[in-house]
Amino acid sequence: MVKPDEYQMGFSSRKAIYIPFPQAVPCSYILNMADCLGNNPIACGKCVEVCEKQAINYDDKDEIVTREVGAVIVAIGLQVYDPTEMDEYGYTRFDNVITSMEFERLICAGGPTAGHFVRPSDHERPTRIGFIQCVGSRNSKIGRPWCSNICCMNTIKDTLLLADHYPDVENVVFYQDIRAFGKSFEEMFQRSKEAGTRYVRGLPGDIEEDPETHNLTITVENTTSGKIERHELDMVVLSVGVESPKDLAKISGMLTLSKTSDGFFMESHPKLKPVDAPTRGVFFSGFCEAPKDIKDSVCQAGAAASRTGALLNAGQIQIEAITSRIDEQACKNCGACAKVCPYGAIAWEKGHPAVVIEAACAGCGSCGATCQFGAITMRHFTDDQLLAQVRAVLASHPEDKVFAFACNWCSYAGGDMAGISRIQYPSTNRVVRTMCSARVSEEMVLEAFRCGAPIVMVSGCHYADCHYINANRQTVQRVQRLWDKLEKAGVRPERLQLEWISAAEGQKFAKVMKQLEELRKTVTSKEIQQTKEALKPKPKKAARKEEAAAVAN
Ligand code: FES
Repeated sequence: MVKPDEYQMGFSSRKAIYIPFPQAVPCSYILNMADCLGNNPIACGKCVEVCEKQAINYDDKDEIVTREVGAVIVAIGLQVYDPTEMDEYGYTRFDNVITSMEFERLICAGGPTAGHFVRPSDHERPTRIGFIQCVGSRNSKIGRPWCSNICCMNTIKDTLLLADHYPDVENVVFYQDIRAFGKSFEEMFQRSKEAGTRYVRGLPGDIEEDPETHNLTITVENTTSGKIERHELDMVVLSVGVESPKDLAKISGMLTLSKTSDGFFMESHPKLKPVDAPTRGVFFSGFCEAPKDIKDSVCQAGAAASRTGALLNAGQIQIEAITSRIDEQACKNCGACAKVCPYGAIAWEKGHPAVVIEAACAGCGSCGATCQFGAITMRHFTDDQLLAQVRAVLASHPEDKVFAFACNWCSYAGGDMAGISRIQYPSTNRVVRTMCSARVSEEMVLEAFRCGAPIVMVSGCHYADCHYINANRQTVQRVQRLWDKLEKAGVRPERLQLEWISAAEGQKFAKVMKQLEELRKTVTSKEIQQTKEALKPKPKKAARKEEAAAVAN
């Protein structure tokens, strides 16, 4: 059976038995049973007859192999954007509109035309070629706001290839920005211009085709000159963006990895741990973490390999001291802690006390804040320690203070940034640091109000940027429950604020503190007194029952 060759982007064909691509390692044939005429019963069987080495066994089955490993490198690559949905560019409607990936095959010496560049409609060599940039990148309208990083330089390289092979070809590149920021990239961009490529700042609205000649017409506003231009072209190359691979969600579930808002994997820390996943022992390499070029991918692969080597050769590993511990006697076997652990670091079976897998625990403290029975101790950030800090901070003149819980990685660092940047903000704020905003329990917030705090703020990393995968989702749910509780108790819910402040947002930290100071001035002594009364602790049993019911809902 003959099928379109995927590697040659469908410009040539392959059989059911084929070498996937010329540089494949190992360079051996594969038999794609989906394309075979059938082996049950055997419809043809010719390949078995002619294979002298008897390397073909129809009875071979796919199998799942289980291995125990000490580290995992996730290098699952990327997926290229399919521009069919951008109907205005006529991809798949017009033969001579191709993608940059298809261009690669057509100009490659190992490609379907042996490097003779021809256009698909008539196999003639095109002499006027247009490139449209940012197709499927930097376009919020189609939900793809990210820059794909590689497309500008890829197009510049393509124009140089064309100028080198076919000096008579006229190239026009339609762009919104050219991002040539790597070593020697700017020089390459200038060479492309010197070689005659015209760069027009502006993205075309649509493409029209002459049905007889299959030539293409592009109308575009040149935003540099402010004029409308029409370009007659033989061929158009859509410089398509990239996206996270389709298996990403599956791998993410298997390894408890989180994603950024653009769908790529989130690293543990963008500057300090750029190849580490938040899950220990997992490292990233290449595109799955973010779009990057070959050089950056190679650097990241080297870094991931060294991080893995260091881990595997260490003999013993050191884990952070900030982990949680469960008191078996106090545990009521409810499993609530296991449900909120973003790392799957709590083993729990119905009817048995939960157990923390310390090597997997990253120390966010979400479990400690969730446990209603006081069975979980978060080392270095115990309930007693944090409550003692709350009481100490509010021991005198609480009415003059804005009380804040700030997560170590973002909000607290944002406060630091405001300080080192000498940004002025009211001195009335008092900050208690936790590793993650998810460590802040309902009891801690209520205790702050009971101690007379006019305003309490819980703050953490921006929603998708929590350093403990997605622990701050628990923060949101907890604060929402608290708002309900405050309202029921007759306390103004706005006295409890939830803010996301990143480490770089010193300005925002200061701005929030100014706003909270204004809010603080509206809280009267009478209101503070009423709050203390309304939030007086209930007898333990009743309070736990109520909180357990709220968590269950
Ligand atoms: Fe900042 Fe989780 S680490 S909110």
